[in-house]
Amino acid sequence: MGRVQDKVAIVTGGARGLGLAIAGRLGAEGAVVVITDLNDEAGEAAAVQINAAGGRCSYMHQDVIDETAWVTLVDRVVAQHGGLHILVNNAGIAIPEPLETETLEGWRKTQAVNLDAVFMGTKQAVLAMRDNGGSVINISSTAGQVGDPIMAAYNASKGGVRLLTKSAALYCLEQGYRVRVNSVHPGYILTDMVRDGLNSQGPEAWGKATENIPGGEMGEPDDVAWGVLYLASDEAKYVTGSELVIDGGFTAR
Ligand SMILES: NC(=O)c1ccc[n+]([C@@H]2O[C@H](COP(=O)([O-])OP(=O)(O)OC[C@H]3O[C@@H](n4cnc5c(N)ncnc54)[C@H](O)[C@@H]3O)[C@@H](O)[C@H]2O)c1
Repeated sequence: MGRVQDKVAIVTGGARGLGLAIAGRLGAEGAVVVITDLNDEAGEAAAVQINAAGGRCSYMHQDVIDETAWVTLVDRVVAQHGGLHILVNNAGIAIPEPLETETLEGWRKTQAVNLDAVFMGTKQAVLAMRDNGGSVINISSTAGQVGDPIMAAYNASKGGVRLLTKSAALYCLEQGYRVRVNSVHPGYILTDMVRDGLNSQGPEAWGKATENIPGGEMGEPDDVAWGVLYLASDEAKYVTGSELVIDGGFTAR
């Protein structure tokens, strides 16, 4: 308990899935958590759920691809809570599409949500944290490390997040800011995103996905949340520019 006591955190895409688990874990460890999402009903319900478990959580609507909304969000959080210490860039989309049928529009949509938004969030967080320090955690994927034949746009976006993270980490060190920036690389974690993605590819997709996991089982959202908690906490004070892989051995082969 109390591993991030009284730190102020933003978790994007916190209405469900990994974001909800991350927000819940940070809340249980003493953080004041602001979750953002496009889905207001689920976002409000998520905040109620975290508060019922003893957390201090509120919800704000945010489309992560809107730069003005990023500025407004960070300003509001700092004004309401006195600062910003943790940003988890978690919101993302995964739309499987082979290279030959991917459209430029589809490609750009994926880059906008998964990469442009992480750039904007990281930038606003560094501006808000540079005087007092903080931790930015960017949720990439094992798809940011190894390729998948039907995920060209997703692979590119998550690979971009991986190196944006390292650049930002080095920049903060060079400037003398105590802002750490790290990426997290989940493998298959059973959330609605994975369910929808596999269902859209037909019945064999589930078998194929689990066959590729050495232990044969997908992870749970909390498996990722514990890793994010570590990176958010002062226990990780010497950890920056790193990649935390949470994938049940998926990329170990
Ligand atoms: N589940 C996995 O196996 C897995 C593996 C690797 C990486 N990831 C990454 O983890 C993150 C969360 O994935 P998840 O499985 O929880 O997905 P999810 O679809 O269950 O949840 C994503 C949340 O982000 C929100 N969101 C989407 N677009 C948004 C936007 N423009 N602005 C604000 N909110 C938006 C959605 O409304 C949703 O609540 C994503 O970045 C995903 O790429 C997931």
